[in-house]
Amino acid sequence: MDCLQAWPEPVVRVQSLSESGAHTIPARYIKPPNDRPSPTTMSDSNVRIPVVDLSADPEHAVQAVASACREWGFFQVVNHGVDPALMRRARDVWRGFFHEPMEVKQPYANSPKTYEGYGSRLGIKKGALLDWGDYYYLHVRPASLRSQKKWPALPSSLRPTTDEYTQELVKLCRQLMQVLSTGLGIKEGRLHEAFGGEEDGACLRVNFYPKCPQPDLTLGLSPHSDPGGMTVLLVDDHVKGLQVRKADAWVTVQPVPNSFIINIADQIEVLSNGVYKSVEHRVMVSSTAERLSMAFFYNPRSDIPLAPIAELITSERPALYQTMTYDDYRLYIRKNGPKGKTQVESLKTVQN
Ligand code: OGA
Ligand code: NI
Repeated sequence: MDCLQAWPEPVVRVQSLSESGAHTIPARYIKPPNDRPSPTTMSDSNVRIPVVDLSADPEHAVQAVASACREWGFFQVVNHGVDPALMRRARDVWRGFFHEPMEVKQPYANSPKTYEGYGSRLGIKKGALLDWGDYYYLHVRPASLRSQKKWPALPSSLRPTTDEYTQELVKLCRQLMQVLSTGLGIKEGRLHEAFGGEEDGACLRVNFYPKCPQPDLTLGLSPHSDPGGMTVLLVDDHVKGLQVRKADAWVTVQPVPNSFIINIADQIEVLSNGVYKSVEHRVMVSSTAERLSMAFFYNPRSDIPLAPIAELITSERPALYQTMTYDDYRLYIRKNGPKGKTQVESLKTVQN
């Protein structure tokens, strides 16, 4: 684990590069031509990720969520029960943090050992190409890892607001876990139980994508699937950026105001034995607008073996994934950075 102690080279804040006023980006951020945001995306077509009304008839909501998770791995939820004013306050305090002077942010600089704090890269490969974004990563659950002292002290309302926001999101995730279980035809508490029940985990990563002078050459976040259970993403209402893989194309998500974007992550793909899909996604940046997003990662207890749920294994559909703990699983992205779906593919018992 020694290799995870320190970053392989000095950390450069993307926000500082952006604010330097340079008209070009450093070579480290320039993606190979095939990995750049391309004009072959479906962004302007009518293809949209599904929108689900959580206050609708429960049976209807279950079907809508289940089919979205099978076909897209992504959906947006409206009428989800979280107060829009709290959502706005959460974004405002975090935008406030990123706009504090560097001396205020720098004491929270993170290390690859825990990732907690203010960061500017994923992965520890020396010389790796980098993404155009800074972030703040913090632990929400279990209680033993949650330490408000590691959260920014400024703006002064950040800690209480983040506390309130993350508690609401844990509730929403537990509700969605029941919907997901029912959609799989298993007991409504089954996924939660497989996550370790009350020992379930959660983290928050607030991403900050500064304006970029050459947005066509880079990405805010390279293609990846999320390693944990499920992700609840809150984005700016008026700035697009997230793209979701659909077959060979990238579909740009059109944010619905006051909604959350939900996606299945690798561990629910594994537990559902591949019925629900953890889908690759990436982030584009802009020359005219900065963008803030709050990715709430709801995760299984990290030290228990995770494998397809027994009720979902049949002779026609044997277990498609090997057993692993989440602690072992997440080391991969922490070392290698975002690498598409290569990690969950490597767990498959039959390679295709
Ligand atoms: C993530 C992520 C998307 C976004 O943080 O894992 O995919 O829009 N974020 O910032
Ligand atoms: Ni993601």
